Amino acid sequence: MEKLIIEGGIPLRGHLKISGAKNAALPLIAATLLTPGRHILRNVPDLRDTRTFLKLMESLGVTWHYDGYSLNIDSTRLGFSEASYELVKTMRASVLVLGPLLARLGRARVSLPGGCAIGERPIDFHIRGFEKMKVNIRLEQGYVDAEIDGRLQGGSINFDIPSVTGTENILMAATLAQGTTVIKNAAKEPEIGNLVDMLVGMGAVIEGKDTDRLTIQGVEKLRPAECEIIPDRIEAGTYLIAVCATGGEATISGCNPSHLPSLLDKLRTAGCLIEEDGSSIHIAARGNGGGEFSIGSADIKTMPYPGYPTDLQAQFMALMSLSNSVSVIKETIFENRFMHVAELRRLGADIQTDGHTAVVKGVGTKGLLGAPVMATDLRASSSLVIAGLAASGRTEISRIYHLERGYEKLVDKLSNLGARVWKEQE
Ligand code: UD1
Repeated sequence: MEKLIIEGGIPLRGHLKISGAKNAALPLIAATLLTPGRHILRNVPDLRDTRTFLKLMESLGVTWHYDGYSLNIDSTRLGFSEASYELVKTMRASVLVLGPLLARLGRARVSLPGGCAIGERPIDFHIRGFEKMKVNIRLEQGYVDAEIDGRLQGGSINFDIPSVTGTENILMAATLAQGTTVIKNAAKEPEIGNLVDMLVGMGAVIEGKDTDRLTIQGVEKLRPAECEIIPDRIEAGTYLIAVCATGGEATISGCNPSHLPSLLDKLRTAGCLIEEDGSSIHIAARGNGGGEFSIGSADIKTMPYPGYPTDLQAQFMALMSLSNSVSVIKETIFENRFMHVAELRRLGADIQTDGHTAVVKGVGTKGLLGAPVMATDLRASSSLVIAGLAASGRTEISRIYHLERGYEKLVDKLSNLGARVWKEQE
């Protein structure tokens, strides 16, 4: 196993290009199961999660060729309909094959994902949605066994709370259903908009893109897709926070500033100067370049898009640990997403939690000191990277495979911004 070593205290400066979005790539890859033929996806990030998903596709009979950017997928010989526990347990997003397999083959057997580091994360919304489309579902021996006689039937589906992969799963299935499907209280994350664009390019009929009500008129046939993955807003947000935390100044390009409304707002509250251009963001920490810099406090509450993203909560907590005041962080999406708190405390952060609320007493920009810490999940790990970059001295982060699930070329990108960071064997 590898660990990440950071010698912190260096302001990040320069230019950085953002990769394609992990959370868009996975559903778009799943969507290629809907119809036989050769599909082309571009701007696909080279991540552990992408590779795991491709392994799952392979186990279903799909062939592919990936050069680190373009992915050619041939789903003509789709012959299996089972996603095994071995694959699903390493990546919950595997559940995204359920909708397309049902639509194309009329059956699917997908392992239940079980819990994960950030909470219970059930898939009951997905299951109830498919039942509305007249799918027979049995839960047996840890698997969802789903089957339909003939075609899926359109239905009206109302999510109790917006679910990202739930919306995507039903949306994909509905494109080939008989009749009209309406998804109410749908999630509005930009990754779903990316999926809608791909499906429409395949011949699907969908209204309501980027709204909480999607109406899908089922069609008999789709055609193979060619589509580009949108930039990763969570990766962009992570680097913006890292630049601010180290008192630096940088331009982040190849991103979509309009996908980060709440984070940019909070970074401005924290005192950063931010200029947005069509596809880039320039950020400068307050007082950067002048020796002393400072970070103001800002409160956040995680919410479905366009609210503050839960996938950027841990990173913002690392930033607030360095502020000159007190901030309050509320996590409303997942029940157990404060795993990073104990690790941030090891670097000297002053954080108290009570249920879903964390009160962070900033220790100032010079207040953290490097220490050995452990990565627990993907985004928690990136908060430790940010804290390590800002802390003085050496931080060692073990179990960095979590980071490799979602950050492409992390060490190279940080090094290009001037950070002293490298990997070593544990
Ligand atoms: C997706 C993202 C993940 C992000 C999350 C919230 C992907 C591959 N993953 O995960 O990075 O953190 O959105 O933005 O896109 N829920 C249920 N029952 C369900 C489904 C969800 O109770 O059947 C609950 C969840 O426990 C959670 C909330 O709904 O409290 C939202 O979860 P959801 O949007 O479904 O998260 P994911 O799609 O798994």
